[in-house]
Amino acid sequence: KKVYYFEEVSSTMDVARKLAQKGEEAIVIAETQTKGKGRRGRYWHSGRGGIYFSLILKPTINPSQAHLVNLLAGVAVAITIRKLFNINATLKWPNDVLINEKKVCGILAEMEAEADIVRFIILGIGINVNNNISDRIKSAISLREILGKEVSKKKLFLPLIKEIEKLQSFLNQPKVLVNRWKRLSSTLGRHVRVIIQNKILEGEAIDIDNDGALILKTSDEGLKRVVAGDCIHLR
Ligand code: BTN
Repeated sequence: KKVYYFEEVSSTMDVARKLAQKGEEAIVIAETQTKGKGRRGRYWHSGRGGIYFSLILKPTINPSQAHLVNLLAGVAVAITIRKLFNINATLKWPNDVLINEKKVCGILAEMEAEADIVRFIILGIGINVNNNISDRIKSAISLREILGKEVSKKKLFLPLIKEIEKLQSFLNQPKVLVNRWKRLSSTLGRHVRVIIQNKILEGEAIDIDNDGALILKTSDEGLKRVVAGDCIHLR
């Protein structure tokens, strides 16, 4: 795969999308982003020292299964961090990678589909490696903070790309992917609050189904299936 490297871009998502529309299947990586995009229209701080990249994927899956790509990316990041640094990275539904319950990596997938066909998916991954994190963001942490020293970005990036490519073969076996995700998850069994647009649900996270949806056991509404939302671990 071709790798496009930039010192600075608005967002690797936008650059990758343009390339994808021209038919390319590439990786776009940047040292910093001026308009880093997070989930749900949020801003993603992209200070120097972090890893910010987007991958163009053309999986042969149904659009309804596209969010499996989020799970895949989370699994790949958690496994790679565990292998390389021997730290207990876990996954918070739907797609945050945590260390000590603090966010070390965010994942964003954008799909372009026509009828029942996925044209491409842009998978964006941002990892807090050596970047400074504002004291105001209490819920985030960098690998440098955890390990007490600078981390080689290359040493992390290349194995991560390999892991993502390896796991792609499982997109057609959702069960395998979801089972791996479950084993790495710190959400299951927890009491969580999920924010879905302007609705809030609370309950015990009891399962993830084969589409990657969260199954919640609520006290007043019984079992609830949640496809997308923001999740907070309560206890
Ligand atoms: C989130 O947790 O809200 C998702 C954050 C995704 C950030 C990455 S950094 C590389 C790519 N380019 C972007 O603008 N966003 C994603």
